[in-house]
Amino acid sequence: MNILILGDVYGRPGRTILKEQLPQLIAAHAIDFTIINGENASGGNGLSTKNAKELLNLPIDAITMGNHVWQQKELLETIADFPQIIRPLNYPEPCPGKGYAVFNCQLKNGSHKKICVANLSGQVFMPNLDCPFNRIAPLREALKEAADLIIIDFHAEATSEKIAFGYFLDGWATAVYGTHTHVQTADERILAGGTAYITDIGMTGPLDGVIGVERQIIIDTMLTKRPSRFVTATGKVQINGIILAIDEIENKVTKITRLYQTY
Ligand SMILES: [Fe+2]
Ligand SMILES: [Fe+2]
Repeated sequence: MNILILGDVYGRPGRTILKEQLPQLIAAHAIDFTIINGENASGGNGLSTKNAKELLNLPIDAITMGNHVWQQKELLETIADFPQIIRPLNYPEPCPGKGYAVFNCQLKNGSHKKICVANLSGQVFMPNLDCPFNRIAPLREALKEAADLIIIDFHAEATSEKIAFGYFLDGWATAVYGTHTHVQTADERILAGGTAYITDIGMTGPLDGVIGVERQIIIDTMLTKRPSRFVTATGKVQINGIILAIDEIENKVTKITRLYQTY
């Protein structure tokens, strides 16, 4: 079976390119399950209820989030209506929504796989959430029991923290992949214990901005050191992500392939 995972969907350009290209991508790569990161889907800032519905009308099975999760404040109220949306697990409790969910995925041969999708945030150069290492550790046994496959979106800035998290979960998670930087890394591999790993899968959105924002706004901010209102970049777009090929008997990744397409 194949799982498609796409990096941070950024604003209208990200949503539009998904509408145009996702069905073809799924068909071309025989995808059984699709996960996207949606933390920037509404103008770069969070995920509105309207945009969540719009994205979930596409063949998307799960949406993970990140530090922008509550920027569209309505999601605090509506996240409970969306079983597909997963926010970082390591927010202090009580917190609306959930940090992981187990999905029942029907394969082409009619059999089913239980896929646990979890989202955690890093602590280095990130909001001061609970420790992701200590938050996931006590769940290991229960999640292994509950799911055939465990897929972790580690939303973090520092490459060191991300690599350490990959090693920490090696042999337990099916895959640990990074999001948040919006820049894809070329270090995809299968770790010694069998966990597929990549530091960052990149962004789905504007190609020629600065991680999604109109480039001149960011250049001016760098020059003047003054804050400014961010506007989503226009022009060419990209789809970034990974495809995991999974052995259905062993429940292990046999191949992790980067997807980096421009339009
Ligand atoms: Fe992001
Ligand atoms: Fe982020």
